[in-house]
Amino acid sequence: MAALLLLVVLAAAATAGAVSATTVAYNDRALVIDGERRIIISGSIHYPRSTPEMWPGLIKKAKEGGLNAIDTYVFWNGHEPRQRQYNFEENYDIVRFFKEIQNAGMYAILRIGPYICGEWNYGGLPAWLRDIPGMQFRMHNEPFEREMETFTTLIVNKMKDASMFAGQGGPIILSQIENEYGNIMGKMNNNQSASEYIHWCADMANKQNVGVPWIMCQQDDDVPHNVINTCNGFYCHDWFPNRTGIPKIWTENWTGWFKAWDKPDFHRSAEDIAFAVAMFFQKRGSVQNYYMYHGGTNFGRTSGGPYITTSYDYDAPLDEYGNIRQPKYGHLKDLHNVLKSMEKILVYGEYNDTSYGKNITVTKYTFGGSSACFINNQFDDRDVNLTLGGATHLVPAWSVSILPDCKTVAFNTAKIKTQTSVMVKKPNTVEKEPEALEWSWMPENLKPFMTDEHGNFRKTQLLEQISTSTDQSDYLWYRTSLEHKGEGSYTLYVNTTGHEIYAFVNGKLVGQNHSANGAFVFQLESPVNLHAGKNYISLLSGTVGLKNYGPLFELMPAGIVGGPVKLIGANNGTAIDLTNSSWSYKAGLAGEYRQIHLDKPGYKWRSHNGSIPVNRPFTWYKTTFDAPAGEEAVVVDLLGLNKGAAWVNGNSLGRYWPSYTASDMDGCHICDYRGKFKAEGDGVRCLTGCGEPSQRYYHVPRSFLRAGQPNTLVLFEEAGGDPTRAVFRTVAVGTVCVAAAEEGDDVTLSCGQHGRVVSSVDVATFGVTRGHCGAYEGGCESKAALEAFTAACVGKESCTVRYTGAFAGAGCESGVLTVQTTC
Ligand SMILES: *[C@@H]1O[C@H](CO)[C@@H](O)[C@H](O)[C@H]1NC(C)=O
Ligand SMILES: *[C@@H]1O[C@H](CO)[C@@H](O)[C@H](O)[C@H]1NC(C)=O
Ligand SMILES: *[C@@H]1O[C@H](CO)[C@@H](O)[C@H](O)[C@H]1NC(C)=O
Ligand SMILES: *[C@@H]1O[C@H](CO)[C@@H](O)[C@H](O)[C@H]1NC(C)=O
Ligand SMILES: *[C@@H]1O[C@H](CO)[C@@H](O)[C@H](O)[C@H]1NC(C)=O
Ligand SMILES: *[C@@H]1O[C@H](CO)[C@@H](O)[C@H](O)[C@H]1NC(C)=O
Repeated sequence: MAALLLLVVLAAAATAGAVSATTVAYNDRALVIDGERRIIISGSIHYPRSTPEMWPGLIKKAKEGGLNAIDTYVFWNGHEPRQRQYNFEENYDIVRFFKEIQNAGMYAILRIGPYICGEWNYGGLPAWLRDIPGMQFRMHNEPFEREMETFTTLIVNKMKDASMFAGQGGPIILSQIENEYGNIMGKMNNNQSASEYIHWCADMANKQNVGVPWIMCQQDDDVPHNVINTCNGFYCHDWFPNRTGIPKIWTENWTGWFKAWDKPDFHRSAEDIAFAVAMFFQKRGSVQNYYMYHGGTNFGRTSGGPYITTSYDYDAPLDEYGNIRQPKYGHLKDLHNVLKSMEKILVYGEYNDTSYGKNITVTKYTFGGSSACFINNQFDDRDVNLTLGGATHLVPAWSVSILPDCKTVAFNTAKIKTQTSVMVKKPNTVEKEPEALEWSWMPENLKPFMTDEHGNFRKTQLLEQISTSTDQSDYLWYRTSLEHKGEGSYTLYVNTTGHEIYAFVNGKLVGQNHSANGAFVFQLESPVNLHAGKNYISLLSGTVGLKNYGPLFELMPAGIVGGPVKLIGANNGTAIDLTNSSWSYKAGLAGEYRQIHLDKPGYKWRSHNGSIPVNRPFTWYKTTFDAPAGEEAVVVDLLGLNKGAAWVNGNSLGRYWPSYTASDMDGCHICDYRGKFKAEGDGVRCLTGCGEPSQRYYHVPRSFLRAGQPNTLVLFEEAGGDPTRAVFRTVAVGTVCVAAAEEGDDVTLSCGQHGRVVSSVDVATFGVTRGHCGAYEGGCESKAALEAFTAACVGKESCTVRYTGAFAGAGCESGVLTVQTTC
């Protein structure tokens, strides 16, 4: 089977190799590919945030969604976890990822960075960089520039060796150096060095001879002459590049937002994204990339940024598991189809913007005797009637109408014709019910850390964590001892820079705490009793992803740096200051060194007649389970667990923390797509999951599972939780609705691509007044429509029914039709 697979891959590679060279040039309107001006509609898919087995399906869905390019960052810390020790395997097999893009017949955008931000550990920079003498990140200095050039050259050469650049017949049409440097370069404490650095970046990149243009995003000042500057943001229609002769490129159209452990889920509506895209193309934009098109999962411990959840769903058009998110996916696909039908006129045509008063602009493109129009309405509260080409068009508030012939509206960004799908987590369908999972356990061996002996080294100082552990583990032990006369009651006080802390005194856990609400500095105060003689204090500091953004972000400390750590007399307030005691250091946990997650033979897992201890901190748990049947995505529900990490068959599922509850913010209670979308500050809206566990479901990619064999789930529970409630679920389409059908529309409903079918049609109603898919209220039921949809849809994966005049009658005033089905 493996050999056969290899042959198929080789055959595909041979065909691809025959593809002739593509030239990529540009002018002020567009990229010029093989002499033709083109529109590029791209989407970001980060290869390490999914599995190689998922890549072809994700790329195929992107193409079917109307994209012609895939964009990704390059993840330096994943590729070079230790200096000059490289990893290009599995989900870091970057060449394989680009070959999949090529096989799909799409273009690619290679964003090397190698600083990438990306809500990724340390912004993608390997933690070992900071140990190099003289190193200053992202500034003009030999150590940083040498390492950056070495890595950039390595990636470029890998791509060249695989003939991945357009000039070699490959898919890559653009490449990026650095990332959003313009945001911080004025705050780097040395303007000249910052400026020299960004010009060095451009020169170094150009020296690579990749044959395609180099871009820099969010670099609006001090732009090197040999790169194209581009825009990132929720809207880029009012942005223009720094000089003439280069096209207007939008590298990041944020389709949603990332989620942190203390935050609810962000949602950016399909209407608002479509509005932003239509405005961009109305205003001469021609290259646009969705960030993210598929967000995915932060699988390893060095994948996520500070306090970022393991899920990096991002509310993207493809959800964390790779399922189509509707209506976002379909609405944008409809928009892409209209834009593509206008490609020539948009990039070659003459244009004319006409203002119809405040907030209303009509743009007319003309080329070769034909014309195309956009009408935008930027009011966030006012629908507008506008007469154009002899007809009057109602343009709803905060929307753009596109008229490819300047007469008929082919698309309005606020009118969603595509279905809404509500996804559900379905119970497992295998013989061995998850409720019957049998668990065994093993204690984490804390004993070696309960004294201050056997550390790696000592220091009479509380050290910074990242530099001490080189980020080889989330954990760093700080241990000391003191002689005490007689017994005494104290409060142990620790001031730490995060992200979490556990305190032990004489082998006993006395307290724990973690950062909250994004403020990483916090304190621990725990009552403790000392005995006569020698007493041991062991502090375990844990990080939850390293800082990825901001000027000098690499210098932002973690751990108990500088403390203070004190024992404060319970009755008299007298303090024993331990800050400058002799501290013994050791990074990592015993179970990490033993690689318990790999479940090697010989490990002594315990189970007393099937019962295990629960709510016990620092405990490893193990169970075996059968893979859920079918092809739908698998998740494990870890509600009941507290905080830790999970593995399936040795593959990391990432950190889990279902005990962390998302905060309740103002934006939890308001939702209106009209008006500027924001992810921070006042005006945030459409949040969900407020007051709920910020993440209870964890993705188990199908390729981690073995069909017909037992699979192993290993958990490391650090804070104390109950694994017996853990269950496996599959993610499936539950309810499907079409909400704005008008007479003459073909209404399509689909239960997805995994064999699930419509089981019933529940709603076919005119003039629904309230509610949402799954819970509509009001309106007048159309018996004829209900019958027509029931006949056409029940038992089918998908169905299409034309909304005709025959649906009216039976006392109903016809109008907008809403249909809801259960899958
Ligand atoms: C637009 O015109 C239609 C038809 O004349 C009318 O019913 C509607 O009220 C108008 N809407 C606005 C916002 O002016
Ligand atoms: C303060 O309280 C501690 C703890 O009870 C005790 O050991 C210590 O002797 C007291 N110090 C003074 C000055 O009373
Ligand atoms: C706690 O530590 C932080 C970071 O080192 C420091 O800025 C702060 O002043 C300390 N707070 C206290 C109360 O000591
Ligand atoms: C945990 O930290 C928070 C924030 O600094 C503080 O308000 C709280 O009292 C601390 N809890 C414990 C047990 O130390
Ligand atoms: C600990 O050492 C530092 C540096 O030598 C000094 O500034 C500080 O005052 C000392 N703290 C205590 C409590 O002795
Ligand atoms: C083991 O568990 C079974 C079922 O819960 C119970 O009937 C039995 O008494 C238990 N045996 C011991 C030795 O605890």
